[in-house]
Amino acid sequence: MSSDQTFFQSLFRRKPIDVSVNQSETSQMKRSLGAVQLTFLGIGCIIGTGIFVLTGRAAAVNAGPAIAISFIVAALVSAFSAFSYAELSTLIPISGSAYSYTVSSMGELFGWIVGWDLMIEYLVGASTVASGWSAYIVAFFSSTFNVKFPKATTESPLKFENDSFLINKGAYVNIPAIFIALLVTCILVVGIQESSAVNTVVVMIKITVIIIFIFGGIRYVDTKNYKPFIPPSKGGQFGAVGIIKGAQKVFFSYIGFDAVSTAAQEAKNPQKDLPIGIILSLLVCTVLYIATSVVLCGMAKYTELNKDAPISHALSLHQNTKWMQVLVNLGAVCGLTSVILVLLLSQPRLFMAMAGDGMLPPIFARLHPRFKTPYIPTIIGGVVCAVLSGLLPVDLLGDMTSVGTLFAFLFVNIGVIILRHTDPHRHRDFRVPLGPYIFPILGSLIAAALIVSSGKSTIIRLVIWMAIGLVVYFFYARSHSKISAYADNEYVFQEPTNKYEA
Ligand code: ALA
Repeated sequence: MSSDQTFFQSLFRRKPIDVSVNQSETSQMKRSLGAVQLTFLGIGCIIGTGIFVLTGRAAAVNAGPAIAISFIVAALVSAFSAFSYAELSTLIPISGSAYSYTVSSMGELFGWIVGWDLMIEYLVGASTVASGWSAYIVAFFSSTFNVKFPKATTESPLKFENDSFLINKGAYVNIPAIFIALLVTCILVVGIQESSAVNTVVVMIKITVIIIFIFGGIRYVDTKNYKPFIPPSKGGQFGAVGIIKGAQKVFFSYIGFDAVSTAAQEAKNPQKDLPIGIILSLLVCTVLYIATSVVLCGMAKYTELNKDAPISHALSLHQNTKWMQVLVNLGAVCGLTSVILVLLLSQPRLFMAMAGDGMLPPIFARLHPRFKTPYIPTIIGGVVCAVLSGLLPVDLLGDMTSVGTLFAFLFVNIGVIILRHTDPHRHRDFRVPLGPYIFPILGSLIAAALIVSSGKSTIIRLVIWMAIGLVVYFFYARSHSKISAYADNEYVFQEPTNKYEA
């Protein structure tokens, strides 16, 4: 009985927050990121496939011109969780993001589950976007320089339609997707400052392109295209239901603000700057998304927008817009590049945090002697991403990214409520507005509702992934975990060597 109790209790032992703070303060990583770079990191991960592809499809199929309202709804959902991430990032300034927050609020087993789940958001997400990048770069070369790449080396050998695999005849491997995954991996190995510099340039380009589209496109807006603004409900689409379905679809475009928290150990002042990076990046993107969707639906009838590159397509319906089409394609390529960069930056930092707690082999926590980056998990993550994106179809993995992210959001929201009870007096530089219940509960409920409504086959895949995770947990992570030792005060606190800036 007592051994059972010990076993059961050990699954829920929580990592003391002081240990995380000390690990962060003694980490050897370079602290070089300020609030601006962190905000750019967030924008780098947020603006990508969502705005360049999904906006048009969601307008055409789900919401009509009211897709702007869908963007507002999805932004609200994201904001509830962003507040929770912001609070916990000031409390637990270590790079494991939702994994670290959960292991301190709900204990080892839940922490492991969330860490395992986050691999879907980061690795599968990066693979999905790398496949999308490949499609865009091929289209970019074709439309701009009239250079055509062969299908055999630019597409996955498999297709995924109606929940089954089909052979994609004539296609063998997606080389551009492999290329971008490996290129980004090399940049990430070299250093966080270099990665952040590349990200900043790429983000500036994509924001400029979006702003040019918004202001350049306004003159082609025909207000007739907004009528009806909310098309009447038909076959489960449009009307109020269509707006909600549209919100579900464009939720993908907001994924990424949470990745800011994985750079906690490289932030100069994580407790002040992480909340700024998380909330500001979400705010900037929300404004850009709403403006883009309003202009897009004014330039073309929403029924015309169900295209792979809807923004380019809307421009092509008007004269003298060739230069803007080229810019938009360039913006999309840059946009997708920075999403891959930040996702592949986040994955090894998660691995590193898990390995630091003994849940993964110590090699995952080793820093490069010169670059001070977690180079081994970075290379492993990059190679896995290259293989997945080179061989698997995008559609299979796309939905998994959203559901994996929502699952993490659920735990982070609950984590805020728990930690306000278990550790009420600890200083927090940022607190969720209106107390620990309203927004975290709304955030959890909406995340749970979106998971449940994400479709049976996606949920089954998530459950299978989690089952594999539990096997790994019971065969490796549990027996190597240091969480119980931390909880029993066996952690030896070290003199801080990497303290934050005042
Ligand atoms: N938010 C990111 C995108 O839209 C994942 O590509």
